Amino acid sequence: MADLIGLQDCLSDPLHHDELLFITIHQAYELWFKQILHEIDASIVLMNEDRLTAAARALRRVVEIEKLLVNQIHILETMTPISFLAFRIKLNPASGFQSMQFREIEFASGLKHQSLLNEFREDEFAQSRVQKRFEAPSLEIRFMRLLRMRGLDAPPATIPTTTRSVGSVLRKTCPGCPGNSHAL
Ligand code: HEM
Repeated sequence: MADLIGLQDCLSDPLHHDELLFITIHQAYELWFKQILHEIDASIVLMNEDRLTAAARALRRVVEIEKLLVNQIHILETMTPISFLAFRIKLNPASGFQSMQFREIEFASGLKHQSLLNEFREDEFAQSRVQKRFEAPSLEIRFMRLLRMRGLDAPPATIPTTTRSVGSVLRKTCPGCPGNSHAL
């Protein structure tokens, strides 16, 4: 515990009250990003083993975590812009673009932009992780493969980038399924 609560290094001097909130909320996001990646990886293994109920359960947990992450922004909104600017300069040049795990989640989910890999060229550890995710088949590709394994005429390993394409595939492959869930 001492290690965990010792990880919030505030840089403002004199110490600004809201800097701890800003650091804590980013660390909380990154911990939940870690959990999301853990669940996505598990669901991929389970899909490959044709264990769909368990795979769906892992992805439902991801949905619940993401609901929490959207809600968490409201805590940040309790900080005023003036208050934020009082310590923001100390954090330069840090940016959300450097969130390795955020990119890993995007890439694992199928949203891949090669240019975003450049953000990590100075960080060998992060570069190798995001590169691996970029090269790995996304959740969507694995799901399409699964549909084909089950004899449904899902498209070959194309990389549709929008969730809408999954819905249209399900509607095409299983028109009678309300919400398409039980087809699997
Ligand atoms: C006061 C709070 C915040 C402000 C003012 C803020 C501001 C910004 C800005 C201006 C950008 C555009 C890129 C840049 O200019 O650096 C950005 C991107 C981003 N921020 Fe934040 N941010 C805040 C909180 C957060 C939090 C709590 C997270 C959680 C991890 C986060 C994650 C990200 C990510 C991942 C991006 C890249 C988005 C993308 O590429 O699609 N930000 N943020």
